[in-house]
Amino acid sequence: MSSLSSVDPQIAELIKAEERRQADTVKLIASENYVSKAVLEATGTVLTNKYSEGYPGKRYYEGQQVIDQIETLAIERAKSLFGVNHANVQPYSGSPANLAIYLAFLQPGDTVMGMGLPFGGHLTHGWSVSATGKWFNPVRYGVRRDTGRVDMDEVREIALRERPKLIFCGGTAIPRTIDFPAFAEIAREVGAVLAADIAHIAGLVAGGAHPSPVGHADVISTTTHKTLRGPRGAMLMATADEHATALNKAVFPGLQGGPHNHTTAAIAVALKEAAADEFKDYARQVVVNSQALAEELLGRGFDLVSGGTDNHLILLDLTPKGIGGKPAAQALDRAGLETNYNTVPFDPRKPFDPSGIRIGTAGVTSRGMGVAEMRQIGAWMDQVVSALAKDQDEAERVITRVQGEVRELTARFPAPGL
Ligand SMILES: Cc1ncc(COP(=O)(O)O)c(C=O)c1O
Repeated sequence: MSSLSSVDPQIAELIKAEERRQADTVKLIASENYVSKAVLEATGTVLTNKYSEGYPGKRYYEGQQVIDQIETLAIERAKSLFGVNHANVQPYSGSPANLAIYLAFLQPGDTVMGMGLPFGGHLTHGWSVSATGKWFNPVRYGVRRDTGRVDMDEVREIALRERPKLIFCGGTAIPRTIDFPAFAEIAREVGAVLAADIAHIAGLVAGGAHPSPVGHADVISTTTHKTLRGPRGAMLMATADEHATALNKAVFPGLQGGPHNHTTAAIAVALKEAAADEFKDYARQVVVNSQALAEELLGRGFDLVSGGTDNHLILLDLTPKGIGGKPAAQALDRAGLETNYNTVPFDPRKPFDPSGIRIGTAGVTSRGMGVAEMRQIGAWMDQVVSALAKDQDEAERVITRVQGEVRELTARFPAPGL
């Protein structure tokens, strides 16, 4: 970064500080990961200089000799990795990708059915504060109070009553396998378009560690930067030609202008990496690690929403520990264990001060950590949270000790790209 350091030393220093922070902490944020050096290199290239409104072979600007090849490679790799006929790699991120689905299939005021945000759904699945909840008519499903899992009979009842035009499955805090065939059957019964938002689990789907929505969902939306381990971006996929055409028109010119070509190139690189055998090992290990961490936490008296996990994600209800999610997440962060506070289903507390924290194992798995390290992380989490619930001075001592031990661990597992 020699040029950056001389042109803007302030920003250069801040980037270095963030790199150090990422190196020295244990990333347990379920929506994050560490991209490879190759992905980082593709992101920081002259491709950022080029405008390319349109699609390969059909652009509104000249000079696309190279960009067309890059975008075509990204599209072909997405098609081959996920086994779909069509892929659009241009959405700027997951939220605009989902908005494109609305634009492709709905009129303002039409009914959309998605999982409620407090139950694990995403804002863009029709939550009230999102444009999708304001401009469309949202109806919601959740999870059962006794199991913490989606009840497909309830989903069917709501769908039959409300007749949504679009149904979203998938979400942002779902620790269990998504039953794509069951959602597809319900969508067929009510004549709705089924959108599978696999933003969180795309890497697991690609690596064979979670069932695929292909053959069940009409359209598939994903971010590229979570378990899939690519740059910040998104993709939309479909099998039927008419769905693909509607999605392409919705992304451009419906919602966006020029695609971010540096991101497109980095997506292509990430998709190539995800097609390698090692990625299958990574995806499997993400789940093995998640289940090991879940087991450790359960053994230490933590309450896990749904009682465990099938994927990369664990949702903890801290009520039995006598502490809120926010102070716990803040204390864990100071100890070097990075999580986010999160609402749990039927949460009596407010969203800005909820009962839970959400954790995920994609980042730690990308660093090469395994079951032994998950057990250690579970023990540290317990020590910090339990001390915090008891006594502030004791908590300070534990946080300082754990921070030192975390540093020793992270030094043994260098993060990709750093
Ligand atoms: C399921 C799901 N969909 C969509 C998004 C939106 O992605 P972005 O933050 O890139 O807009 C997220 C992000 O957390 C998500 O979890």
